[in-house]
Order: sequence, then C-alpha cells, then structure tokens
Amino acid sequence: MRILCGYNVNIDSVHIVNGLEISKCIKEYDLSEKIKNGLKNPPNAINKLEDFFVGLIDCINTGKGAELLIFDKGVFEFLKKNFHGELRIGGNAGIMSNVLAELSAQVITNVPKLSEELAKLFSEKVLVPAEQENKITLKNPRYAIKLDEELMHFVFDFKKGTVININQEKFIATRENRFIATYDEPNTKLDINLLFDSVSEKLIKNIDGALISGFHILLKNYPDGTTYKDQVKTNFEQVKKWKQLNKNLIIHLELGHFNSDIVMEYIIKKFSSVVDSIGMNEEELSKYLGIIGEKDLKNSARSIIEALLKLKDTLILPNPNLRRICVHTREFIISILKNCRENSEILALNFGAKVAATLAKTGKIGNEEYIEESIKDLKLSEIGIQQLKEVQPYLNGTFSENYSIGMTPTILCENPVTSVGMGDSLTAGIFLKELELDVFKRVKIDLSY
Ligand code: GLC
Repeated sequence: MRILCGYNVNIDSVHIVNGLEISKCIKEYDLSEKIKNGLKNPPNAINKLEDFFVGLIDCINTGKGAELLIFDKGVFEFLKKNFHGELRIGGNAGIMSNVLAELSAQVITNVPKLSEELAKLFSEKVLVPAEQENKITLKNPRYAIKLDEELMHFVFDFKKGTVININQEKFIATRENRFIATYDEPNTKLDINLLFDSVSEKLIKNIDGALISGFHILLKNYPDGTTYKDQVKTNFEQVKKWKQLNKNLIIHLELGHFNSDIVMEYIIKKFSSVVDSIGMNEEELSKYLGIIGEKDLKNSARSIIEALLKLKDTLILPNPNLRRICVHTREFIISILKNCRENSEILALNFGAKVAATLAKTGKIGNEEYIEESIKDLKLSEIGIQQLKEVQPYLNGTFSENYSIGMTPTILCENPVTSVGMGDSLTAGIFLKELELDVFKRVKIDLSY
C-alpha cells in the first residue's frame, strides 16, 4: 500500500511524571495557591508557569489527556531545563508514518522542519522528498536532513496512582494518560513542505490512501495577523486536488485535542466535504457534541452509538464522500459506516487494537509477526467486552440505508511503556487494514434494473 501522511511532525520529549518531583517543584517555585486557584477554571493555553502545572494536574485529577500550547518562551526554557525526557518521534503524522512503515506500507510524509535529531527518530522505511541536482527523489529522512530548527513538544506521561501533593491536598491519577505542552510555530500553522506538495501531486494516481491530522493545534489567531482559516486553506486545497486527481484515493482525517471550539467546528465542517473517514477519541467526540448543542456524552458504547447516529444525519448524509466515522476509547472502538464492508471493518478495528497494544507493551511497532508475539499475553478489555454485549442489538448487520456499525473491545496493557501515540498507532493500523481489505469498496445493492 502507498500512503501519504500529513501534516504535523515534531520531536516528543517524553517525561514520566514523578509525583514527588512535581510536588517539590511547585513548593520550590511557591506556586501552590496560584495552582489551586487555577484548577477552579483550567486554562486552555500556557501563558505563565502556573498554567503548565494547572494543565498537568487537571489531567491527573480527571484522567483526561490534553495538549496546551505554550506562548511564553520562558516556560519553554523552563521545561527544557527541568523536564528533558526521552526523545521519540512525535506529531500525529510522524507517529502514524513510523507505524505504517514498520507494517510495510510505503509512506511518504510531510515534514515541516527536518532537523538532524528528528531525522534519527524516523523509521528507516519512511520516505520524504529530497532535492538533488534539480531532481526530486524519495529518500529516508536521514538522507534528506536540512539544518532546520528543532520542534520539541514536552509530553508528560503519568501512570495510574501518581500522587501530586499541594499543601496537604492530594491529586491522584485514576488512570494512565498524558499531558502535552507544545511550543512550535511551524506545526501550529500546518506548514506544507514544498517538495511534499509537488511530489504528492505527481504521484497521487498511484497512491492508495492519505492520513491527515494535526489540525487540533491550529490557533484561532496568529501573531502575524492571520487566522486558522488562512493557514488551513492550502491544506484543504491540497487534499481537494488529490481527490480530484485520484477518485479512488481514500482519505482519513484524525482529530485531536482542539483548544478552540471554533477551530474544531470549522475543520470538521470543511473537511467532511472531502474526506472519506473521520476518527476521534471519546473526549473529542464529547467536545464536538457540546459545540453542536448536543447533550453531554456518557462514556458508554450505547451513548457513543447514539451520538454516531446523530453525526450520520448531520455529517455523513450531507457529504457524499464521507462514509465512516470512528470513535476510539480506552476500552473499545466503534465505527459507523455507509456502504462499506462491515466484516472487514471489524477485522481492521481488531488489528488497530493490536497495534496500539503493541506500542503500549513494547514502546515500538514491528511487522505483523512482532505484533502477534508482543500481545500474546495481553487481554481484551473486560469493560469493552461487557459494553459490546450491551449494544449487540445495534450491531446486527446493516440497519438502514446501507449504514452499519462495527465495534471491538481494545486490548489492554496494565503497565504501558508509554501512552503517547496510542490513538495514532491505532488509527494507522486500522487505516492500513481497511485499505488492504477494501473496506471502502462500495457494497450498495442496486435494486433497479
Ligand atoms: C500531538 C502532539 C504531539 C504528539 C501527538 C501524539 O500531535 O503535538 O507532540 O506526539 O499529539 O498523539
């Protein structure tokens, strides 16, 4: 399979949260009261040091995952100095590229800024366009390094049970998750590498799929006076062009933790007209439902299916290209499909669950053999199995107008090596299997003759 991956790629500096270390740091910088106050109304950006701690502790306290943008260089320097972690490939497009390449797909990736350190973190099988003697060729990032700046995001991975102590008050993590603090202008503008732009267009007729993501880190307003609408124009035109040039191309848009409701609504509305498939986790679904005026989402399969049935009317029906919406949670994955092969979709969801579990267990991805070997001692989520039983009546085959719903429990790893990139790995695994199994091949039965 040949797959294009865009748009955001960066270095993740992954730090495992140590409750004592954070508690001590808060005391040392005398931030206790400011943080406690901040927790009453957590910020959606980091403008000062206490915003960083409030964001992190809010995630620990609620079990949620989040990504906040840093607008103060001082906070960035502080994190670099105090919380330098293990460097890993980051950015949804970066992580997905590595997974796809390790699973033997041919991947061409958009890399906004390719520094030496970043190049080393890519799988040796990923390709990027490089220019040599006026000719563009595809090369591994290691052989296409430019002296670009380093784009680094600080990922704080926390384990279930991590305790932060602020003035005798304890905040305890109810589950593992991660908090990301991001200082990175090129990716927040979803910059397109010029060579990627021309190569993708040239090769598009021979490409099977495109995985696009990273839109959640767009800003509402940029210091240069532009807005998210200006920034995303070229990305949208590019995707539209791909689709015009190759009608068989399957495009999946993966959402993320949007800090602005306006940006989220705009992206979903705009891209629904051109993509075939959209994916998100339950927090992103809940946020979107809030934006479109729907009631709160309960974290049950039934509630998610009801929400998907609403999205079928508001997003799938008016957009002929859009034929799949997928929601993945820690315990299960559900997708709604229109004129797709449901049985193959379930196999694809299963495969995605295995890929994510492999990352959690071993911290990396290998070929299918490696995946089977890595997960052989892991178990399906009990909650996922239970939820699947409860919604069984919804899942029995196509229910109307060629729509169907597929669901599978996830595979859980008690002590994950990392929780960053799980959603991306899952998405990449599902997408690759969907392409291999022709999930999107229309199965509409024509009754007229
Ligand atoms: C976001 C972050 C990036 C991280 C990724 C994981 O894209 O910006 O740092 O690697 O999420 O899903």
